[in-house]
Amino acid sequence: MRHLLTGFEFNQDEYLDILNTASEMKKNPLNFNEVLKGRSGAIMFEKPSLRTRTTFELAFYRLGGHGVYLDLQNGELGKRETIGDYARNLCRWVDCLVGRVYSQNTLEQLAQYGSVPVINALSDLYHPAQAMADYLTIKEHLGKLKGVNLAYLGDGNNVTNSLLVAGAILGINVSCFCPKGYGPDVQVFSKASENAAKNGCKLEVRDDIENIKNMDVLYTDTWVSMGDNTPLDMVKKRYMPYQINQNLVDKSGASLVMHCLPAHRNYEITDEVMDGPKSVVFDEAENRLHIHMALLAKLI
Ligand code: CP
Repeated sequence: MRHLLTGFEFNQDEYLDILNTASEMKKNPLNFNEVLKGRSGAIMFEKPSLRTRTTFELAFYRLGGHGVYLDLQNGELGKRETIGDYARNLCRWVDCLVGRVYSQNTLEQLAQYGSVPVINALSDLYHPAQAMADYLTIKEHLGKLKGVNLAYLGDGNNVTNSLLVAGAILGINVSCFCPKGYGPDVQVFSKASENAAKNGCKLEVRDDIENIKNMDVLYTDTWVSMGDNTPLDMVKKRYMPYQINQNLVDKSGASLVMHCLPAHRNYEITDEVMDGPKSVVFDEAENRLHIHMALLAKLI
């Protein structure tokens, strides 16, 4: 049994297999509509979602299975009963647990006490399925992954961590341009760097955004992560130099602009760029569905 908890679980061939399966499912969805016949999963969300919830539910449906949505936004996992008991119950009924949680530890416990695959639909540390959909989008647009130069700009968060983890396995050079003290998780960066060394690519964290050049892809995300109620205007001064605007796109040389969404228009990305010809943000959103279908088919 395999889980997707961090993104470190899969090697390069397995990543490529998931991406290729997702592409095949995107092209010929009807060929896969009985893959999960009679199978089901629990889709548990402690936090809000548009894209991830919709696409996991649809992924079960399109594969002929059933996803049961459990709304936990008014009650964190582990409050009414232990996470272990919660997992032991669910595993008597369903074939997979999909969880969006506050703490990575919650997912680790679900995997420890449960007996079915657990898929991370976002935690404080990782958003691995997002990164897979993003790399599928890059492959579609650039026709390759190895050697691609991706710059992540802004606040180092769970999405940044997952872009590093998956990027290092797939051979992508990932440069994180973040203000000093606001970079990605140090331990995740260090472990991902070991993979990067094996796969002939480079990861870096830097704050000299004025020197950005020779990039293929620019990527950004919100400056304030979900659950943090700090008003964006309070952090604007810190992050504004990292905003993706037309000047920065031109300077970087990038041909693609990405954002995992939801976007805060004219904060981390301008309207002009988000609605411009290099933006693939809605392709990324669409690819969440195809990646989730591939993941459910592979793991269940
Ligand atoms: N990118 C992403 O995970 O979107 P949602 O928060 O809407 O699921």
